[in-house]
Amino acid sequence: MQTVIQTAVLREIVPSGLTYGIDERRAISERGIPLEVRYITPIDKSLERVWEGRKNSGKNIFNKSGVWRRREALNFLGINTESYEECAANLVSLDGSEGANSGPFRLSNAAQYVGLPSGDVSFLYEGNNPSGSFKDRGTVVVATDGRRHDVKRYIVASTGNTAASMAAVIANEKVGGRYSRDVELIVIIPHGRVATEKLLQAQAYGAKIIQIDGDFDAALEMSRQLREIDPTMYPVNSYNPFRIEGQKTETFDIIEYLKQVPDWIITPGGNLGSTAAIHKALLDMREWGWIGKVPRIAVVNAANANTLELFYNREGVRWNHGDFDVRSVGEFYSELRMERASDRHRKRSTHMSAIDIHYPAEENMMKALRALEDTNGVVTSVTDAEAWEAKAVIDSNGMFMVDLASAAALAGLRRLFRAGNIERGQIVGVRLTGRDKDTGLSARYYNNPRMKHSNVPLQLPNDVEAVKNAIYVQ
Ligand code: F0G
Repeated sequence: MQTVIQTAVLREIVPSGLTYGIDERRAISERGIPLEVRYITPIDKSLERVWEGRKNSGKNIFNKSGVWRRREALNFLGINTESYEECAANLVSLDGSEGANSGPFRLSNAAQYVGLPSGDVSFLYEGNNPSGSFKDRGTVVVATDGRRHDVKRYIVASTGNTAASMAAVIANEKVGGRYSRDVELIVIIPHGRVATEKLLQAQAYGAKIIQIDGDFDAALEMSRQLREIDPTMYPVNSYNPFRIEGQKTETFDIIEYLKQVPDWIITPGGNLGSTAAIHKALLDMREWGWIGKVPRIAVVNAANANTLELFYNREGVRWNHGDFDVRSVGEFYSELRMERASDRHRKRSTHMSAIDIHYPAEENMMKALRALEDTNGVVTSVTDAEAWEAKAVIDSNGMFMVDLASAAALAGLRRLFRAGNIERGQIVGVRLTGRDKDTGLSARYYNNPRMKHSNVPLQLPNDVEAVKNAIYVQ
């Protein structure tokens, strides 16, 4: 087997961008351009087989992990990837479970719901991650980077899943004795807008949780202000390039599972870290000569939190090969803020709380624009009603119950197919990003007889006749 010692740098995302040392702890350059991790030497495609082989290779947790079994693709530490001791001394993992059980799943009625042959659509379900969403792939990597800097205080603004995930990782590291007891996670969340179980996880795993008035955007802004006051705080949000390195492994999964590059990858879009991460995987693979074509990325916003859609489809803003006025995102956000000043957008705007985000981090917005341009991508949005219906279709496969934001991806695929963007015969990968942690809300849906897929339990007296009659009712 091959041992790969990668050398990595942080580089601006524009062509011929400025380069920084990998240890610099920065997410943007001094001129405001987002950074990403780049590797100096290409890695060999033969590693694909090594990675596949590791999946079932015994007890080494780093071989089981959907992130670390691909450690050569994100070896920013430059460790000897064949040495278990070096892995254990450096890498953070939720006992090898992150990204380990994602599928793919066929979900034939979901494909049918769209109108596509079942064999052409595959679903990657990230709800089997230990904390229940894809976030675990990125947070273990952030925690790995934080560990080498001996970070004591992490901070995250979240719609719930990232907070739950990072809290889980830190708790697990502390119990394992790899993080000292004084390491803490500060969670900033929008009060009343986070799904019960996401919040509960962060509580149970011991994070310090601060709920503020306002929405996710206010929470993100708050976290940035706090970091200005105390720059030693380490940001967990997905503008952190190391989050993206972890999350990119999901796209390696899709291609490994499908044994081909799909024509499309469909993803819900909130703070747009996922969009950036899908693209990052494709950039790496293309740079290393592993793939010729890239899939088209379709980003699905919630209809009332559709800033990317507005930016891309209505304003026609393009990345333009990096010849991009970095102020435009900020300017557009200011205009939007004026437009939205007194309207409903500042209130809870969708049941898809995971992606109820109006001002995605500017770093991610830029990366998303680049991803769309580079992959000839598209953006759409779906209403809550569409997402609920799509969720019910996915749930009805009996495999799992999904977060409503995950269902947005299926609803978006349906829209794009009907609009003619996606055609019969094309191979599609759909990200199902997390499991349902808003079960109170889902209960309201399934218990509401007016909803198409409602299934209201019958309430009967303890009487065999009554029960029998109900069972055999015509
Ligand atoms: N699906 C789920 C279940 C999510 O939790 C999120 C984001 C997304 C999709 C959207 O991904 O932000 O990369 O575009 N949740 C974040 C959080 C914002 O704080 O947990 P994105």
